[in-house]
Amino acid sequence: GGLWAVVPAAGRGMRFGGDTPKQYLEVAGEPLLAHTLRALLAHPALEAAMVVLADGDAHWPDWHDFHGKPVLTCIGGAQRADSVLAGLAALPDGVRADDFVLVHDAARPNLRKQDLDALLERGRADPVGAILAAPVRDTLKRAGDDGGIDATAPRERLWRALTPQLFRRLQLTRALEAARDAGIAPTDESMAMERQGHRALLVEGADDNLKVTTPADLAWFEYLLAQRRE
Ligand code: C5P
Repeated sequence: GGLWAVVPAAGRGMRFGGDTPKQYLEVAGEPLLAHTLRALLAHPALEAAMVVLADGDAHWPDWHDFHGKPVLTCIGGAQRADSVLAGLAALPDGVRADDFVLVHDAARPNLRKQDLDALLERGRADPVGAILAAPVRDTLKRAGDDGGIDATAPRERLWRALTPQLFRRLQLTRALEAARDAGIAPTDESMAMERQGHRALLVEGADDNLKVTTPADLAWFEYLLAQRRE
């Protein structure tokens, strides 16, 4: 069957500053979220999207479909993982327990088709699933409380976790519930899966699958979009 995307968009974007949550900032005449949904739903493997909104979200344009595919919404929670759990729970019954589900940040508008292709091909062949990731290019330091350097983390085997992340509906739900019950707030889905011993694949994706966190990220995306349209 077709694949569903769960798109957590319930963040308030506090790090960005300003009154508009970052997923609704306008780029090329459309909210960031529109760019993100297009990148997902333009892919033939995607059937529909479940967008997870903040309670009382006044910015959601009330879309019911996008790119000719259904878009459903539900209300998220305080932490990203709570929002993803809400999205998984709100999926229709037609999405079975062992069906793969794609989780993708609303704030990642620059997903490339070839990355999605690679993630789907390799992830669906894996018993657990897969995530897009990019190799770390800087040397990483662990700081002490005084701001001095305590250690260097060798970057050779370090990756930046990106989204989308592809896991089976029930297994991911159980893993996120287990993290929540342990008082842990995972910052991505695979962190919850690892805790349960579910070992997913890293699939190398493009460095420019950026998450809009600062105004500079938004400018970067505007630049990439303009280049693509040239
Ligand atoms: O805050 P961060 O940039 O890590 O958020 C990643 C994604 O998770 C964003 O798309 C944001 O809207 C979403 N999120 C959410 N619910 C929260 C916090 C973040 O859906 N409580």
